[in-house]
Amino acid sequence: MAKLALLQLLPIFVTAVVVVLVAAAPDHKEHLNHNGLGPERLTHLHFYFHDSVSGKNPSAIRVAAAPTTDHSPSLFGLVMMADDLLTQGPEPTSKLVGRAHGLYGSASKEELGLIMAMSYCFTDGVYNGSTLSVMGLNSAAHPVREMPIVGGTGVFRFARGVALAKTYWVNFTSGDAIVEYNVTVVHY
Ligand SMILES: *[C@@H]1O[C@H](CO)[C@@H](O)[C@H](O)[C@H]1NC(C)=O
Ligand SMILES: *[C@@H]1O[C@H](CO)[C@@H](O)[C@H](O)[C@H]1NC(C)=O
Ligand SMILES: *[C@@H]1O[C@H](CO)[C@@H](O)[C@H](O)[C@H]1NC(C)=O
Repeated sequence: MAKLALLQLLPIFVTAVVVVLVAAAPDHKEHLNHNGLGPERLTHLHFYFHDSVSGKNPSAIRVAAAPTTDHSPSLFGLVMMADDLLTQGPEPTSKLVGRAHGLYGSASKEELGLIMAMSYCFTDGVYNGSTLSVMGLNSAAHPVREMPIVGGTGVFRFARGVALAKTYWVNFTSGDAIVEYNVTVVHY
């Protein structure tokens, strides 16, 4: 009796399996086609980041600190808001290619370690209007730092990659700095 019932149900099972296969088929195809996003691209960007914290018109300003920040050798607890210029070459007068908007803050007690939460907004050529999001620790005292690129917009939609940063020039008295960037991103 149980065997007969099972046999009667068999066509239903078969139909169910076929339906599942048919339903899964387009998904599989779309997956192979990167969900319809088009081909994956690799882009390298090279630019200079100008962080000016002194003078009459600084590009990065102190917005918060802990009572102990100024006694900390690494300025632990300091939070800065930045609208830093990105240029093609190292000179401040070099061609503007974008701006880095966002926050960085001292998140390390042992050495200078800046947690970066910034949107790099490009304004030049094909990248005009496109952005990359940097999120990670910038061990600013090291010669070369590596920071994650966690996303992007415009031509950089679905971006992921890394930014290598190297201090090109720094005034240790004022804190002003120019930083060279090499960014490598995969996007669609
Ligand atoms: C970038 O795009 C904006 C808005 O579309 C436009 O006003 C501006 O002139 C463009 N800049 C460059 C350098 O192409
Ligand atoms: C960026 O790449 C250039 C060319 O390979 C190299 O000379 C420079 O040192 C690199 N800078 C950084 C910060 O990686
Ligand atoms: C470094 O910064 C100090 C303080 O703002 C300034 O007096 C000095 O001229 C700067 N040095 C250079 C080389 O820009």
